[in-house]
Amino acid sequence: MYVVGEEEIEAVAEVIRSGRLFRYGVGDRCDTFEQRYAAYLDVPHCALTASGTYGLAAALIGLGVGPGHEVLVPAHTYMATATAVLAAGAIPVIVDVDESLTMDPAAVDDAVGPRTRALIPVHMWGTAAHLDALGEIARRRELLVIEDACQGVGGGYEGRRFGAIGDAAGFSFNYYKNMTAGEGGAVVVRDPEAFERARCAIDPCHFYWQGRSEAQKPFAGIGARPSEIMAAMLLVQLGRIDDLVAKMRQERDAILEGTQSLRALGFVPAPLHSPRWDCGAQAIFTMPSAQSARRFVEVFPAVVAGDTGRHNYTEWDQVLMRKGAHHEAMDPFRLPENQGCRSDYHKDMCARSLEIVGRTVMVATDPQHDEQDVADLVHDVGIAARVALGDSDADPAQVRRTRTIDREKFDLVDAAAPGA
Ligand SMILES: Cc1ncc(COP(=O)(O)O)c(C=O)c1O
Repeated sequence: MYVVGEEEIEAVAEVIRSGRLFRYGVGDRCDTFEQRYAAYLDVPHCALTASGTYGLAAALIGLGVGPGHEVLVPAHTYMATATAVLAAGAIPVIVDVDESLTMDPAAVDDAVGPRTRALIPVHMWGTAAHLDALGEIARRRELLVIEDACQGVGGGYEGRRFGAIGDAAGFSFNYYKNMTAGEGGAVVVRDPEAFERARCAIDPCHFYWQGRSEAQKPFAGIGARPSEIMAAMLLVQLGRIDDLVAKMRQERDAILEGTQSLRALGFVPAPLHSPRWDCGAQAIFTMPSAQSARRFVEVFPAVVAGDTGRHNYTEWDQVLMRKGAHHEAMDPFRLPENQGCRSDYHKDMCARSLEIVGRTVMVATDPQHDEQDVADLVHDVGIAARVALGDSDADPAQVRRTRTIDREKFDLVDAAAPGA
């Protein structure tokens, strides 16, 4: 959840007044942001790009993941995690999530095959993927780890920031992320040569502006360059991100604390792998059944994870249809190198994930909430949970506030729609 306002307006106005909207040669905001964000993450380098999707694709391209490789992705993530793999020419293999809504390490271990080159743990809804367990598997099975930190800007895992732990990472600054310029993204790649390749994927012409050593080998990347306007907004927000995330985490903790007595009824917080460090963007609860989850969101307008459209593999049309590119000859699903890769997708292939997301509800936090907002929220969540779990003393009329859900933000699908 982002906050934007007058500071961003002023920062953007300054760029426009200066007439220096292009990053190379004239502007300095993209460079400044890349340096500050790398220092913030404690990583050697970072590059801005036009989207999180392209950040992930550039990370994979940089690391040399491509035709002939499978990449493991979780069944519950925005579809871009999988389409970025296809953009690099590799094949996504979909694996189950567990109750944390992040990649299940046991499912990952089971899914590794001879063609598997990498895995993409997603810090879904701003919570941390289980990086210790996944890292151990990656080391043992000799796999690369690319963190999808698109939803995890400002969060971390056990004392380190998201993006600083894997071999590479992608971040999104789109219209709903913790820092936003409307659209935008970033990529971090630890290895310097791989980072150079990622930069080339983002802007094949960057050598022209920034120079090229003999060792650097350019190739025709598509290009997804950032603008100075984007960097100007992000520079403002980088100064606020820690405070914003701390407030969301505090509200999430208040909701978990205030609903503790309901655990015995079956209103159980989803496991968190790093609650002190993650983003706290949602309080997530695993309920006993899909029916109870549905009843909960009727009383309190929260979100059932299973209703979040393209965040569930069953809604990744292009992937399930095996349409991996605009032209058949370039389609990773048709490349001879990929014929040994697994791509036998079907809608019930990760039935366990579907069962879990169907009974998991998410209550969004908001850094702009005051104490009373949080107290009312905790109260109303409690009423909704008790109604949903059959406590006859609880009544929907006891809910204090009328709220609405931003359906677009969660890409909500009608629960009655086919495939929902
Ligand atoms: C988990 C995840 N991965 C990747 C992306 C892609 O980011 P973008 O929309 O900036 O391309 C998103 C964006 O919603 C996301 O949530």
